Amino acid sequence: MTDYCDIIDIKTNTDEEELERQRRCIGIVKGLVKERSDREGRDITYHVTTFGCQMNARDSEKLSGILEQCGFLYEDDELAADLVIYNTCTVRDNANQKFFGHLGSLGAIKKRRPDMIVGVCGCLSQEKSAREKILASYPFVDLVFGTHNVFDLARLLVMVLTREVTKGKGSTVTQVWEATDRIVEDMPVKRNYTFKSGVNIMFGCNNFCSYCIVPYVRGRERSRTSDDIIGEISRLAADGVKEVMLLGQNVNSYGRGLDEKITFAQLLQKVEKVDGIDRIRFMTSHPKDLSDELIDVMAASKKICRHIHLPLQSGSTRILESMNRHYTKEQYIDLALRIRDRIPDIAITTDIITGYPGETDADIDDTIDVIEKVAFDGAFTFIYSKRAGTPAASMPDQVSADVVKVNFDRVLAKVQEISTKQAARIEGRVMDVLVEDINRQDPSLVTGRLSNNLNVHFPGDQSLIGKIVDVKLNECKGFYYIGERIR
Ligand code: 5AD
Ligand code: SF4
Repeated sequence: MTDYCDIIDIKTNTDEEELERQRRCIGIVKGLVKERSDREGRDITYHVTTFGCQMNARDSEKLSGILEQCGFLYEDDELAADLVIYNTCTVRDNANQKFFGHLGSLGAIKKRRPDMIVGVCGCLSQEKSAREKILASYPFVDLVFGTHNVFDLARLLVMVLTREVTKGKGSTVTQVWEATDRIVEDMPVKRNYTFKSGVNIMFGCNNFCSYCIVPYVRGRERSRTSDDIIGEISRLAADGVKEVMLLGQNVNSYGRGLDEKITFAQLLQKVEKVDGIDRIRFMTSHPKDLSDELIDVMAASKKICRHIHLPLQSGSTRILESMNRHYTKEQYIDLALRIRDRIPDIAITTDIITGYPGETDADIDDTIDVIEKVAFDGAFTFIYSKRAGTPAASMPDQVSADVVKVNFDRVLAKVQEISTKQAARIEGRVMDVLVEDINRQDPSLVTGRLSNNLNVHFPGDQSLIGKIVDVKLNECKGFYYIGERIR
């Protein structure tokens, strides 16, 4: 008992001490899992359910890595696992609804299987009101932890598994830091793919777009050092990874606040030098910080993929100003066309919100105008969702649902018309493709990704997965291709 309390409560002063503490916690959990496994004569399993963006997907790989080192075995069926963790998203209200739906259906199962452990983490658990709702209405939840506490999972599991001897049975273990400057490196990770991987280059966001909850739930922007990033990518390359996706809410401001003087473009040049990495992607670029230096580096690179995700949000300068985006309609168009000019074949994709407070038909006309002028290769279109605590939530002139629906459909139709045309541009060409999966509908086909992020399906088998091959793009089907392997 004292051992547990010591390890749980000890204060660590450096990231290295913390890493050591986490390793000891993993050892303790492993022992407890083994005891249960021996007692019940079976494997003890886990499942991590991920909602939301690539950041969450990467965090889930970290959670899975820790759980596997603790001796849990992966179980595909969420409801059959002994431990299930929900990694939540709160960027829009429908993400919240979806999660609470899942949690609701778990109540009955947990009654039948009281030994099941239920954890909730991610962006939603950073929100006080959502956290209170979980604690009040879903008391069967064993563990709630925040976006800054992912590295701490093993210690939190020691607390959950030893509640009888430490904090008392039945209570929900809760650990949500409001902020942190801690980045604990070298924690275990279980990758979803052998040949590609996300790599966090920074955490948090400082932009405070008026509609967005991310800066409140992911905290202030913090960059990892380039040595740590390149070290991780080199290890990934040695492990067979060919494609990395550099992740940050605003990669173009990478480096701010670090002791070393480095820009995102310079980081890309360092990544480019890592042997074994053939493809480099990144996400997401804020238009206000995208430099000419970056365009030059991309244009000169053989490894950086011909795709940039450049969220527009709105084409109306008036709305952009209210959104706190720091660019005008004209500046955005100019930037996108400069990128197209310097990097032919590049795919530019975007995010667009309709229904932002005060939005009029004239604002939608502006958005449609930008879609036409930039000719987006793809766009995620969202209906504005009011997020409590953000400036936009208390703005007057919230747009009624029926008006939003009409405008949303207009924007979506235009995006689909333009992006279908864009995709057809490369029909008949031969391009390199990273093969990712067996096709789900037709197992005689494999699915691969072009540098410009489009998918292509072509005859092939398991042996091609993870390889880069040349494929002729025979037929454009709107937003994907049917092709054949040439080499
Ligand atoms: N409502 C609708 N969409 C939003 N996004 C962020 N916040 C909101 C919101 N409150 C969208 C933006 C962002 C993407 C990740 O989610 O378009 O780029
Ligand atoms: Fe949200 Fe804006 Fe930050 Fe993107 S840049 S995460 S939209 S606040």
